[in-house]
Amino acid sequence: MIETMELINGHYSIQQVNVSDIAEKFGTPVYVYDAATITRQIESLRIGFRSVDLRVKYAAKALTNVSILKLMRKHGVGVDVVSIEEARLALHAGYQPEEIMFTPNGVSFNEIVEAVGLGVSINIDNLPTLQKFGERYGNSKPCSLRINPGIMAGGNYKISTGHLQSKFGISSQQLQQILDLTNQYKINIIGLHVHTGSEIGDVDVFLQVAEVLFSVAKNFSSLKFLDFGGGFKVAYKEGDSITDIEKLGTKLGNAFNQFCKEYGSKLELWIEPGKYLVSEAGHLLVKASVVKETPALTFVHVNSGLNHLLRPMMYDAYHDIVNVSNPEGAKKKYTVVGYICETDTIGTDRNLNEVREEDIIAIRNAGAYGFSMASNYNSRLRPAEVLVINGRCELIRKQESFDDLIKGQVDIDV
Ligand code: LLP
Repeated sequence: MIETMELINGHYSIQQVNVSDIAEKFGTPVYVYDAATITRQIESLRIGFRSVDLRVKYAAKALTNVSILKLMRKHGVGVDVVSIEEARLALHAGYQPEEIMFTPNGVSFNEIVEAVGLGVSINIDNLPTLQKFGERYGNSKPCSLRINPGIMAGGNYKISTGHLQSKFGISSQQLQQILDLTNQYKINIIGLHVHTGSEIGDVDVFLQVAEVLFSVAKNFSSLKFLDFGGGFKVAYKEGDSITDIEKLGTKLGNAFNQFCKEYGSKLELWIEPGKYLVSEAGHLLVKASVVKETPALTFVHVNSGLNHLLRPMMYDAYHDIVNVSNPEGAKKKYTVVGYICETDTIGTDRNLNEVREEDIIAIRNAGAYGFSMASNYNSRLRPAEVLVINGRCELIRKQESFDDLIKGQVDIDV
């Protein structure tokens, strides 16, 4: 695991900023992100994939805060968006349209037309849309295709997207239909894309997928890039296996360079990491409201829950938990739960330094799909977001207020 948060002289800190002070200053719950971890992750991809012409497209859905998008752009990272709204956010953050890859899934053709209007790159994931695209644009607008490689991989079924039963992409087995449409309308296919799933630790899976993509790619003569999607696995707990980026970059890079030779031109290799770039950079800081002993367990109730961090309940995801306020306290077993009125366990049977009411608890590895999947369930407010950058703490989103809850509601006479 990357130690974004270090214990120095009995205090947890991020870039030498005391974590308890962040909680004090901005209140809890609060999402805190470490810019240095994000930039280190970007750099490690560049090093790992040094043998190819790499383009990193950040999967914005993981964490869509505009300041994070700006940080990515500052470090030369493009962006992958999945909705017209994400495309607008990326433009708002300063991205040029050509730096934005639009990979929606089964959206109405109007949304594709709107995206073409914004000037972003279009990635098409089904045959009916490809047909409409051909009818409307012929060869006047280039596009890429999302291919479903027919390979099952990913941390769990909900985040596995490349298998035959998955709704995503155009099956590689439908190659002939793709070719019929692209020939009929002279569609200019400049890229092929896959995203096989999230949390794929096994490098060989990426190579198997690459073989499928290469076999499809040789049927297109004007490709500029192949996009291998995201899905690089990070460690959620000590000892977790991760995607070895050095090994992936070397093996995939070699296979890719060999393919480019056979293809007869040097293509760009694109990747679209989400978790890899931001997961370990983020922590959700919460406060212990009640420590409750039952005949069975000791619960720590915190002032947050599945409304702010859905992953434990949605995917049975493990998030490391740390008692920031009492690092020297004796270790005890706790089950950490939220305040939502349905079961929202954040961590079961965790060995934590003794927890007292008001202690600050950090839920680690919460940068990816934390805030971006947060909701107002139980009419709770969504938390603030803070970025630690160059040794400073910057508020990058205010905590919501009651006004946000009623904004947009139309109060009629009943
Ligand atoms: N590209 C495409 C087209 C995607 O759909 C995704 C994620 C990514 C890239 C980035 O995948 P990553 O590198 O983050 O694994 N909410 C789930 C993860 C859902 C991923 C959806 N697609 C979670 O919290 O585990």
